[in-house]
Amino acid sequence: MSNKANILIFDSGVGGLSVYQEIVAKLPQLDYTYIFDNEAYPYGELAHDTLVTRVESLVKQMVKEQSIDLVVIACNTASTIVLPTLRSHLSIPVVGVVPAIKPASNMANKAVGLIATPATITREYTHDLIRSFAQSKPVEMLGSTRLVDIAEEKLRGNPVDLLELERILKPMQGSVDVAVLGCTHFPLIKDEIQYVLGESVLLVDSGEAIARRVSSLLEMVDSEEIGERQIFSTTPPWEEGALNQALSPLGFTPVQHFPLTI
Ligand code: DGL
Repeated sequence: MSNKANILIFDSGVGGLSVYQEIVAKLPQLDYTYIFDNEAYPYGELAHDTLVTRVESLVKQMVKEQSIDLVVIACNTASTIVLPTLRSHLSIPVVGVVPAIKPASNMANKAVGLIATPATITREYTHDLIRSFAQSKPVEMLGSTRLVDIAEEKLRGNPVDLLELERILKPMQGSVDVAVLGCTHFPLIKDEIQYVLGESVLLVDSGEAIARRVSSLLEMVDSEEIGERQIFSTTPPWEEGALNQALSPLGFTPVQHFPLTI
């Protein structure tokens, strides 16, 4: 693979940008194609089969049309169910993101909190992760779509209501010493979550591990060059102007439309 590999990053919304930022910090010379399926957002409340069909179709279409070399499913909710099917249909590497239960459990003394989407906390995959890696530490789960919305709003320049955040995170306050950000949207509101849970709670996400994994799968040639970045959505995004303004410093040209055809 050349140093100009084209990486596809997939999410339901802007959450995958938290993963993109980790990867691009390590590998700025690559080309990045980001697609978000906002037509079916939020994925945390989408039926299992609908989600699998949509992700499969969109990723396959993108891989074909954009000459993609590696796919990152930058969405925990999707990764917990789509990876085996996707990998069986594609001949290029597919990297997924799942909640960082293992490292969090290793670091916890008291209890681990898992903050994710309503779907992720019910997934068999998540429960298997906890059974295999929670090191007999209790794991408290909190599923919230409102937190995902808050991250979408913040990226578009809307202020985060800390009192609302406090109400949502209340069940975790005081009971956990490590909290897993098990949705890629949540690193976008990490400072606010940290403020509400307090400095003594360690927040863990999977972004950096994903960037290392991507880097290990590519053969890199050193280059000073910065690659191209383009971004697509399945339906016109809300507050598109504000969104494009936030995407520009991340290197993206304005959002282009890529409707799903099944
Ligand atoms: N960013 C996604 C995740 O990591 C999903 C958010 C949603 O659409 O519910 O789970």
